Amino acid sequence: MAQTAIVTGATGGIGEAVAKRLLEDGFRVVAVGTRREALAALCEKLGCEGLPLDIQDAAAVERALGDLQADVLVHGAGILGPNLPIHKTPPETVAQLLGVNLTGMFNVLRPVIRGMLERQNGTIILLGSICGHVAGAGPGIYSATKAAMQSVAANLRFELHETPLRVAELRLGRVRTGIHGQLDMNTDFYDGYECVLPEDVASTIAHVLSAPPAVDISTIEMMPTRQVVGGTRFSKS
Ligand SMILES: NC(=O)c1ccc[n+]([C@@H]2O[C@H](COP(=O)([O-])OP(=O)(O)OC[C@H]3O[C@@H](n4cnc5c(N)ncnc54)[C@H](OP(=O)(O)O)[C@@H]3O)[C@@H](O)[C@H]2O)c1
Repeated sequence: MAQTAIVTGATGGIGEAVAKRLLEDGFRVVAVGTRREALAALCEKLGCEGLPLDIQDAAAVERALGDLQADVLVHGAGILGPNLPIHKTPPETVAQLLGVNLTGMFNVLRPVIRGMLERQNGTIILLGSICGHVAGAGPGIYSATKAAMQSVAANLRFELHETPLRVAELRLGRVRTGIHGQLDMNTDFYDGYECVLPEDVASTIAHVLSAPPAVDISTIEMMPTRQVVGGTRFSKS
């Protein structure tokens, strides 16, 4: 029987490429996104199953994912913008970023991990960012959510180390998906830059999943060749 993979963020750039790759690799793919029409179009195009869900709605996520016997979770649902420094980010924007990127992630993890533990099988892959550990790489609140994701991945590995469940976190540099439109910077971010492509991320995920069961490729940083982080800035008074 085909293994089941849940892909959140499947209506987005990376999620769609991951759904396509996992279908090609023989998985049954359950695709999650909020936009019903986009999700229906994706399912029509790829042949996956669609679950329209706002992951901030804990009860709806529990109802939808609770009984799915997932062997794999690729959690790509997330938001990035707007492009504001921390002290200028309004409370409702903070709540939205924390709601989708953190509370939403926990809402998805609860039922999925419970089911994986019942069956003693599963791989969880979280789509993180270099913003989680590099200051200034993205908006401050977004970056804080991705820093928290790094902690979540590490703590899950700790909590689950007496089980066969695997947890992997991909810390991505710039991937050309359109998400940077949320910063009003798609053109500035992509024109002339050779970004990582969504299908490159999908190939890496396929590699993580193909590792022997006793091997957890736990943390990966994936960057465009010409994008680097590091150095310091020192301003004069
Ligand atoms: N692209 C990059 O350069 C990059 C770099 C580092 C990390 N990442 C991370 O990789 C992940 C995917 O990024 P992407 O570039 O593919 O972004 P994207 O194209 O904007 O896709 C984002 C996905 O998240 C879904 N989503 C947003 N809010 C949701 C909610 N409340 N409930 C359920 N789904 C929701 C969207 O679904 P709907 O559109 O249907 O609402 C969409 O499918 C994100 O977590 C992002 O932070 C991306």
